Amino acid sequence: DIMRWLDRPLVLVGLMGVGKSTVGKRLANDLGIGFVDADEEIEKAAHMTIAEIFERFGEPYFRDGERRVISRLIDGQPRVIATGGGAFMNEETRALILSGAIAIWLDADIRTLVERVSRRNTRPLLRNGNPAEVLTRLAEQRNPIYAEAQIHVRSKDGPHHRTVTAILEGLA
Ligand code: S3P
Repeated sequence: DIMRWLDRPLVLVGLMGVGKSTVGKRLANDLGIGFVDADEEIEKAAHMTIAEIFERFGEPYFRDGERRVISRLIDGQPRVIATGGGAFMNEETRALILSGAIAIWLDADIRTLVERVSRRNTRPLLRNGNPAEVLTRLAEQRNPIYAEAQIHVRSKDGPHHRTVTAILEGLA
């Protein structure tokens, strides 16, 4: 029983479109703990959408807010936190996550990611260019760093509940 020893948050990391929010909600629900989406918390704190923050203040400003929000959410309470795909790339944010939480890398084929991001076009990093190309380049840059997560789970094309089961097995 995971809840007998879990004394810290579970933080989902991985590329855009991999299903961090959807899987995170289900995982939290199965464990009977809270779920927080860090991107939503940033939007609430800034009273702006992520696209607006990028446009008006730039990416470094966004990354700084992201680090502050994530550090506030890592407070020793067991909860599930979905992060934006770039959060774990920031050295300070990554150190916070690795020391105060359990990082879970959700990973999927580029084809699956492209299919999923195409449903909603709100992501500033996908605005300039072909999503498959952007995601392929990001995967090359980021996968070696995501690999520092304590747990690595491959998200299948199929239903998210199978990914949740794989995470629970990874934690057991
Ligand atoms: C980003 C991913 C987005 C969001 C921002 C930047 C990234 O979150 O934080 O657009 O750098 O990969 P999702 O991974 O939830 O799409």
